[in-house]
Amino acid sequence: MTSRSNIADFSIPVTNVPRTDSIIAAIPMHNPSERRALIAEIKSELKRQNAVLVAHYYTSADLQEITEETGGYVSDSLDMARFGNEHSASTLVVAGVRFMGETAKILNPEKRVLMPTLEAECSLDLGCPVKEFSEFCDQHPDRTVVVYANTSAEVKARADYVVTSSIAVKLIEHLDEEGKKVLWAPDKHLGRYIERVTGADMLLWDGSCIVHDEFKSRALGNLIEQYPEAAILVHPESPEEVIDMADVVGSTTQIINAAQTLPNKQLIVATDKGIFYKMQQVAPDKEIIEAPTGGAGATCRSCAHCPWMAMNSLDNLLSVLKTGGNEIHISEKIRIKALQSTQRMLDFARSLDTQVLSHGNA
Ligand code: 13P
Ligand code: SF4
Repeated sequence: MTSRSNIADFSIPVTNVPRTDSIIAAIPMHNPSERRALIAEIKSELKRQNAVLVAHYYTSADLQEITEETGGYVSDSLDMARFGNEHSASTLVVAGVRFMGETAKILNPEKRVLMPTLEAECSLDLGCPVKEFSEFCDQHPDRTVVVYANTSAEVKARADYVVTSSIAVKLIEHLDEEGKKVLWAPDKHLGRYIERVTGADMLLWDGSCIVHDEFKSRALGNLIEQYPEAAILVHPESPEEVIDMADVVGSTTQIINAAQTLPNKQLIVATDKGIFYKMQQVAPDKEIIEAPTGGAGATCRSCAHCPWMAMNSLDNLLSVLKTGGNEIHISEKIRIKALQSTQRMLDFARSLDTQVLSHGNA
């Protein structure tokens, strides 16, 4: 690994971040019969409207369950985009955060894209406004602009490539082999990780995820002493010192796959705990342990659960299906530009699948 790192000398403050506990406390409680009635109504609305659900692993167990029961798909941000793009439903209902709904619309202009809430932001997206980002790109015209999927449609429109954490290392490796220098935004931790793994020449935007930023290396060290046999699984949006302690660094899907394939009976996981639902399904005999976010004497705000992901509920899902509100709209000018960089991501991902198949490792 190399140690060079160039991070932009300014950052955009992200303020008014909601607390996850307050968001969860505001979600209506239902007794079992009300819950059954709510789920039945959602199912019939989905059918009536030729709609399919696409949900992220960080949403609630309730949402993941109904998504799978109704023929929808629960996955990471890359596969959410791929599924929405390939499915024949005329309405996609995206349970996640806004950039996921926007990505669906960029790829599927002919489909209606709804979200249970349009207030579900992402600190990476909020910390990378298009005006400042464009100026930064203009100052570095010699660099290929690669942005993480956790960005607005406008920022995607300014980029050469969009990428998600599942294929980011491979894409930057590929660009590096072509002799390209990279401007990377917005996540500095993910950017720094890729830079160290690939040795590519990268200039990093100074953004971060408020959830993964809270994982603490010292407290993690103490936990590892308590569970010496545990494997450490870390999402690359985490700070460098936490990544350095990992046995596996990967996207949400890669973390779930590792839970299934690693021999360790105990797994310490540094990512949003919404993922535990799927991990426990694929590895029911394993003990899944939350990586610490508090640290000695400190407190957490998100406490390993994204406040914006937590805003998605069965109630606002039913409401959006009934009203047709919360539809994603993107101006055609922006969409067409954003489609180029987003389509490059899908094409690159497909070329990787082909390589895996041609090497017989599938
Ligand atoms: P994945 O692409 O790994 O699902 O990550 C999305 C995300 O927002 C992680 O915080
Ligand atoms: Fe954004 Fe972090 Fe929430 Fe993922 S977990 S959506 S990166 S704020």
